[in-house]
Amino acid sequence: MPVAAAPDVLAQRLAAVVGAGHVLADPDMRAPFERDWTGRFAGRARLAVRPADTAQVAGVVAACAAAGAAIVPQGGNTGLVGAGVPRGGEVVLSLRRLDHVGAVDAGAGQVVAGAGATLAAVQARAGAAGLAFGVDFAARDSATVGGLAATDAGGALALRHGTMRAQVAGLQAVLADGSVLPRRAGLLKDNAGYDLGALLVGSEGTLAVLTEVALRLVPRLPARVAALVALPDADAAVALLAVLRAQVASLEAVEFFLDDGLQLVLDHLGAGRDPVPRAPVHVLVQVAARTDPTQELAAALASAGVDDRTVLADDGAGRERLWRLREGHTEAINAAGIPHKLDVGVPVAELPRFLAQVPRVVARAAPGARTILFGHLGDGNVHVNVLGAAPDDPAVDDAVLALAAACGGTISAEHGVGVAKARHLGLVRGSVDLAAMRRVKAALDPAGILNPGAVL
Ligand code: MLT
Ligand code: ZN
Repeated sequence: MPVAAAPDVLAQRLAAVVGAGHVLADPDMRAPFERDWTGRFAGRARLAVRPADTAQVAGVVAACAAAGAAIVPQGGNTGLVGAGVPRGGEVVLSLRRLDHVGAVDAGAGQVVAGAGATLAAVQARAGAAGLAFGVDFAARDSATVGGLAATDAGGALALRHGTMRAQVAGLQAVLADGSVLPRRAGLLKDNAGYDLGALLVGSEGTLAVLTEVALRLVPRLPARVAALVALPDADAAVALLAVLRAQVASLEAVEFFLDDGLQLVLDHLGAGRDPVPRAPVHVLVQVAARTDPTQELAAALASAGVDDRTVLADDGAGRERLWRLREGHTEAINAAGIPHKLDVGVPVAELPRFLAQVPRVVARAAPGARTILFGHLGDGNVHVNVLGAAPDDPAVDDAVLALAAACGGTISAEHGVGVAKARHLGLVRGSVDLAAMRRVKAALDPAGILNPGAVL
């Protein structure tokens, strides 16, 4: 006689909170929540649950806490370190339905958005009010504000506006017992007690579930110019960066990629012989101001002595074409295989040494693997992508992260630690740091149900 499966009591409790249609137990329905988009991280979820608002998130967390069920919070599932997908048996708590974006408070220069609002939606709302949001990156149409805050996301504009941490004026979160930490008023000056919101930025879902974020906005700058500069080596790129910093007040972004990465992108785009100059190192500079900043940029490039093959773009289509070469790296790499993505940061002065040594340490760790390097030059933030190493082979990660640490850098600049780099945290955080982090984790999540295995 067939044995009937035991009803999942937790699923029933969650259905009472969010409605049965938003508790996904069926494997096909759960599947999109179980795998990250690089394909490197995947695990089976016990359930995927889709609350609609903060009260429902609180109800979900309280029910999971009562059942001792672990939770993996998930936003747009664009993360790159495995922090947003289950490892096996957790409840995936999707914040996607919390996608409201409030009216812009023009006096304060802020907007409140639900954790599930996309970066693009926030940018659009800010733009409609004559303002802008100071964070941007390629996954803008899928990445969500909650995920951005939870990882302290960076992106190309961090050079000018700082990382996500600098944009968060206040946030609302659900703690591990289901209680709600209310959002504060978003005052610039408010030093009444510990800043718990600031502690949650960058905590990668291990201390609380973020449900709403008040975001600072910046002036919208209508005149924008990009330049793609071809350079002989990384030393020349760092020298150019120094000139730009000293001379260009309108500087907004300084990105880089190498020629093999450019070729991969061109092949992927089917762009053939795109008429951009070829050189070992390419630096993409962008400036933005209220009035045309072309002269300011051109004068700085001339004084840096860059060669006359530099491509300048002052219209939207031209800029987009140049940015496609930089932002297209992620997609082109993914199309070529399952990459190891190591997002590291090193002091700018160490960049040339780091870039020269990475391919060598990768070649030793995974003979035959291919290394693609690109990233945010101005922040010393290098995206080390390795193709051709087995997805679960730790040797490449160990070697690259150790090199970043040896250069005085960090193992995680903007993607987060997640599960991918949790065991490497000791490379850049000492025993006192780690012990304090563990005490904070134990105080806020004593049962360890929030994103277990991530960060610590
Ligand atoms: C980028 O800068 O393009 C992003 O961090 C994504 C990536 O590293 O692939
Ligand atoms: Zn990046």
